Amino acid sequence: MISGKNIILTGFMGSGKSTVGKEIATRLKCDFYDTDKIIEKEQNRTISDIFREEGEDYFRLLEKLVVADICRKSDIVIATGGGTLLFKDNLEMLTQTGIVFCLTANFDILISRMGNRKNRPMVAEKNRTAILELYESRIDGYNKLPNQIDTSDISPQEVADRIIKLFNELNNNPGVTK
Ligand code: S3P
Repeated sequence: MISGKNIILTGFMGSGKSTVGKEIATRLKCDFYDTDKIIEKEQNRTISDIFREEGEDYFRLLEKLVVADICRKSDIVIATGGGTLLFKDNLEMLTQTGIVFCLTANFDILISRMGNRKNRPMVAEKNRTAILELYESRIDGYNKLPNQIDTSDISPQEVADRIIKLFNELNNNPGVTK
């Protein structure tokens, strides 16, 4: 990838950001970064531990610092956490470095892809109704994000295909699909 721009993936938990991000990076032969993994490495503890020991606000601060740091890189693929781009500062910083793609899927598919939820503190203790409430509280925020890709009925490889194609089109003609 030599466009100088990053590919930034967002979407609710279970939308496939990390799987698809790795796939895109492999195909484009560029580096892949996962903001949650960076936080865990820097903190030497899991996201769940950070939430439990420090609370969500502290996690959001760490998240913002990692975003600011990663924005110094170019030609990379970034999978953000499900909440990252719902914060204006993060969205502004990352948008300046490349193109944001928002992965969507219907709610039941998201829930089933999340599998065992114990490593996702936002949903670990919640039942379906409470998770649906969280999802609905965020839906307007996600809907405002550009380049929505519905992943409900397609494989991660196909999602990667679509994103790469769209990324190339947007780079060649930035006015087209936004
Ligand atoms: C969060 C999603 C998680 C992680 C943290 C908070 C969220 O990332 O960043 O638990 O607020 O939606 P994934 O979407 O990769 O699970």
